[in-house]
Amino acid sequence: MNPKFDPFSILSQYPRRHPIRLAFLLQLKIIEYISRINFDKYALPQKTIPNLLSIPDADYLSTAVTPIQMQYLLTGLEITENLEGSVVVEIGCYRGATTQVIAKHTNRKVIAIDPYIGYGGGKEDFQEFREKTKMQSNIIHKPCSSGEAAKNWEYENVSFIFIDAVHDYLNTSFDIQTWLPKLMHGGILALHDTDQLCFAGTRKAVFELKNQLSLFAHIDNLVLFKK
Ligand SMILES: C[S@@+](CC[C@H](N)C(=O)[O-])C[C@H]1O[C@@H](n2cnc3c(N)ncnc32)[C@H](O)[C@@H]1O
Repeated sequence: MNPKFDPFSILSQYPRRHPIRLAFLLQLKIIEYISRINFDKYALPQKTIPNLLSIPDADYLSTAVTPIQMQYLLTGLEITENLEGSVVVEIGCYRGATTQVIAKHTNRKVIAIDPYIGYGGGKEDFQEFREKTKMQSNIIHKPCSSGEAAKNWEYENVSFIFIDAVHDYLNTSFDIQTWLPKLMHGGILALHDTDQLCFAGTRKAVFELKNQLSLFAHIDNLVLFKK
């Protein structure tokens, strides 16, 4: 993994047929192909939490995060609430369904990072994000990519990070390597869409963390690590 290599900047910097862009896309496809072949090797053990917070109200039609995954996210959020002077980071906010729930359940600032260009969210999703999150004064939206936000980072401690942006190996490992150094000791790193064959690269990137962090929880398609 190379933390200096930002996939978003390659795609935004180089035109469609540029050799660097084509080489990048080829590399991406090869890694995803190999990750799919090795999908079973990247399985983390299941780890459940006995006393979860109750299922929060959320717009579950606007997110792939399920009610039980939301409970796990909130449980991870809660155990980091006492890490004072820290902020929460969400990478990939889409229509704001998860951002809204996270922000409602913490007194910390929630730095919500999503450029709404390129892969995934577009203008209409951003409108919906704005509508959903307008009542939450603790949300700060950074309209830029994960890599750009990290470069211009102005906050010190991060106690909870939720990575749910582009689901392939190069992007997920870039996001992990970019943000993990900012996570404080005792903080939680949560990652979504970790167990789907179509996102095998994300599963590989998450699996590679197993010796670096302690597994706090793992249910289908959601992993939480503690630093
Ligand atoms: C899976 S959606 C996020 C879903 C959201 N967490 C939820 O559950 O409601 C992925 C989002 O990542 C955003 N995205 C794409 N590339 C990104 C990048 N480099 N940095 C941050 N966000 C990115 C897309 O615009 C899209 O809105």
